Amino acid sequence: MRRVHLVELHELRGFPGAWRDLLTDVMSYFAEGFRPYRPVADRLWAAMQACGAGSIVDLGSGGGKSAITVAGDLTARHRVAVSVTLTDKYPNVEAFQRAERESSATVTVVEKPIEATDVPSNLEGFWTMFSSFHHFKKPEARRILANAVRQRRGIGVFEYTERNFLVWGPTILAMPLFIWFATPFIRPLSWRRVLWTNLLPVVPFLAAWDGLVSCLRTYSPAELLALTPESSPGSYTWEAGRLRSFGGCRITYLLGWPLVEAGKG
Ligand SMILES: C[S@@+](CC[C@H](N)C(=O)[O-])C[C@H]1O[C@@H](n2cnc3c(N)ncnc32)[C@H](O)[C@@H]1O
Repeated sequence: MRRVHLVELHELRGFPGAWRDLLTDVMSYFAEGFRPYRPVADRLWAAMQACGAGSIVDLGSGGGKSAITVAGDLTARHRVAVSVTLTDKYPNVEAFQRAERESSATVTVVEKPIEATDVPSNLEGFWTMFSSFHHFKKPEARRILANAVRQRRGIGVFEYTERNFLVWGPTILAMPLFIWFATPFIRPLSWRRVLWTNLLPVVPFLAAWDGLVSCLRTYSPAELLALTPESSPGSYTWEAGRLRSFGGCRITYLLGWPLVEAGKG
C-alpha cells in the first residue's frame, strides 16, 4: 500500500491544546501499559554505544512515556542510567513535569516548543523519535535526518504503526472503546478527561482518526533509508528494519550514528 499523507487532526493550527494533551496522555498510558517499544532497547543501546552517547533527546515526546520506558529498559537490560530530555512542538507540560517527578530515570523537561526540524544544538544527546516521524512529509523528514548529520548526532526513529490493515484495522476500530474504558485508569483523572472522553467521546474518535492517518503515513524501512542524506556514507552508519513487538505489532525503525571519532552522540 502506498504512503498517503492525510491530515492528523491534532496537528491542525488552532487545535485545542487541552484535547491534544488528553490524546498524548492516552498514548503515554498505552506506551507504559503495553510497552510496544520494549524490543528497541538492544538496537538503540548498540547505536548509542557506537557513537559514545549516554543520554537521549526525545523529539515529539507527547506525554513522554515512550522515551522514558525505553530508558528504563536500557537500565534493566544493560545496567546503564540514561538521562532523557523531553521536547515537543506542543509540549504537554503537565505530563512532562509529572514524568520528571515520578520517573526513576533522570528526566529533563524543555517547556518551550522545540520543532523537530530545527533542534537547537545545545541539546546534547542521541535523538529519538517515537511515533512522531510519520508527522513529516518527505522534505521535512529529510531535513530532520540531515540536521542530525550536520550536528553529528545519533538518531533513532521508531514507529509501532504501519501500513498493514490486517494488524491495524481491528485495533483502530476497537480504539474508541478501549479509550473509553481505559480513561478511569489514566492519570491524572480530571473532570476534563471524563468530559471529553466519556461524556462527549471526542478524544476516542480523534484518536481513531489520527491513528488511522498515522498508519497510512508510516514509512517502511526502505523508505526511511531512502530519506537519509546522500552526503553521509562513510561518516554515518544507517540501519533500518522491523522488530517484533506484542501481538502482531511490529516496530519499524531507522537508526543512524556518526563515526565514533567525530561523534558527540
Ligand atoms: C503521535 S504523538 C507521539 C508522542 C510520543 N512520542 C509517544 O510515543 O507517545 C506525536 C507528537 O509529535 C509532536 N509533533 C508534531 N509535529 C511536530 C514537530 N514539527 N516538531 C516536534 N514535535 C512535533 C506532537 O505534538 C505529538 O506530541
